[in-house]
Amino acid sequence: MHDVSRSPEPTPGEDLESLAGRVDRAIGDVASLEPQARATAMALREAIEAFHRAGLTAIVKRLKDDPRGKELLFELVDDPSVRALLAMHGIIRTPAPTTASEPPLELVQIQLPGDTKGWCSGPQADEVTAEKPVAFEAGGAKILVLRVKNELRAFRNACAHVGLPLERGMCDVEAGTITCPWHGFRFDADTGECLSAPQCQLEPFPLRVTAGVVWVKPS
Ligand code: FES
Repeated sequence: MHDVSRSPEPTPGEDLESLAGRVDRAIGDVASLEPQARATAMALREAIEAFHRAGLTAIVKRLKDDPRGKELLFELVDDPSVRALLAMHGIIRTPAPTTASEPPLELVQIQLPGDTKGWCSGPQADEVTAEKPVAFEAGGAKILVLRVKNELRAFRNACAHVGLPLERGMCDVEAGTITCPWHGFRFDADTGECLSAPQCQLEPFPLRVTAGVVWVKPS
């Protein structure tokens, strides 16, 4: 049986990075549990998150409906802990250019005001598996997040051949590669280097994970 060490008690005033680190370690511990225990832990996590999401959604919706509340809400999301919490629940998202094909925002979603220093929130880190990359759009860029050797990598979601999307590419977990579904170019999923045409390369983006959420800085 896997031995999951007990999380330390919260420290008053603990900073966001430390809190996020504890979340990430706990998620890592859950991932290594036996299947039945992992399923129970995931069900508990989802139930608690749904409970929190419902309350947070009600708070954000009410604040948005009031001019002063909206102002306060925008001030609140400048706080990294509030920003991370709302992004984790899909209640806010970072600015991205809208296109005609993009669905309208749901009522509870808000565009963050001002500069977010270029970092855009993406999927939950545990949605990205070694077999299945996740594609999303943010900051005007199409982004592909891959898991390779249990690390996450982000690239522009454009094959170095003729720029077609890669999220349906075939991942070879052992070799750490992804093969483009269109014409078969193969890439090192760690570095983005093209193994079929050495002069080609996927464009990498900086990536970090905060409180279980992937953040990418597209250039
Ligand atoms: S677009 Fe990827 S191999 Fe052609």
